[in-house]
Amino acid sequence: MSEQLTTLDISSTKEEKYKNLLPQIEALISGEQDLVANLANISAALKQCFDFLWVGFYLVNENELVLGPFQGPIACTRIAFGKGVCGTVWKEKKTIVVDDVDKFPGHIACSSESKSEVVVPVIKNGNVAMVLDVDSSQLVSFNHTDEFWLGKICSLVEAKLS
Ligand code: SME
Repeated sequence: MSEQLTTLDISSTKEEKYKNLLPQIEALISGEQDLVANLANISAALKQCFDFLWVGFYLVNENELVLGPFQGPIACTRIAFGKGVCGTVWKEKKTIVVDDVDKFPGHIACSSESKSEVVVPVIKNGNVAMVLDVDSSQLVSFNHTDEFWLGKICSLVEAKLS
């Protein structure tokens, strides 16, 4: 199988890019059961398709989130339950879109370049198994479109969890 993503027209809207990307991610992970391999390729596919600063996963490990596969600058490795945007998503079990990270109380700044962020939970059997975190170097980069499509990508991951 070719793992080359289709080159997307630069004029594509965000919606069109996600619409194109989703089946490609589905194909990319369909024949592979290894979680790390799949999370790594999903991170790379999102980074390649969009101009995001940082894309990656934090996995629940006992009482912390631990850094998983990602693309972008070096990030903090562990986040406590309820801390930062990621820990809050874990606690609240719902997606959070942050227009301006400086205005989110307790935001954890892994990179000073990060200005806005969206974090989506992957929920298995009612529990958060991991979160998908996406950071942008621009303010107000994320909206309901990202929430919807990143949620669909997280559903694909959820379906792969045993
Ligand atoms: N900003 C996140 C921490 C992870 S980094 O952005 C990669 C947070 O507040 O949880």
